[in-house]
Amino acid sequence: MNVHTYEKVWLIGAMVLIVGFIVTITYGSVGLGIAMVDDSEETIEPSELDEDERFADPRVEQVGENEYEAYVVAQTFIFQPDPIEVPSGSEVTFYVTSPDVIHSFSIVGTNVNTMVIPGEVATMTVEFDEAGEYGVVCNEYCGSGHHTMEGELHVVP
Ligand code: CUA
Repeated sequence: MNVHTYEKVWLIGAMVLIVGFIVTITYGSVGLGIAMVDDSEETIEPSELDEDERFADPRVEQVGENEYEAYVVAQTFIFQPDPIEVPSGSEVTFYVTSPDVIHSFSIVGTNVNTMVIPGEVATMTVEFDEAGEYGVVCNEYCGSGHHTMEGELHVVP
């Protein structure tokens, strides 16, 4: 009986430690994940983007004098809107999500490169000082058309 009790105590102690380790590891990797994909905490129902007021109609919206918000949908194998058009000298906050599989939203020649995960909204703010045209590409393998998944970003004068 006594042995049994000790065993139980040790067992419970061991389990508490294991759970503690798992929590530490999970918590740690979640922190890393967020750092890598920017802020992707917001959740969204991937199958209902059509009914979401932000993503039903992917677009760029002016929200301040030089401030814009871009609602972008990355899906097999296109980006919407395409091209994304913003004025030079603007600060643009991108909200990007996917209705199907994992993609990325990467603006060639810049450090904008975020993973786009179905169910999450990747968010990043970028300043565009000069006019120019950029390619938008997907850096996450997403299927047979992955290599053709391209869009354009026009920063207009
Ligand atoms: Cu989308 Cu690769």
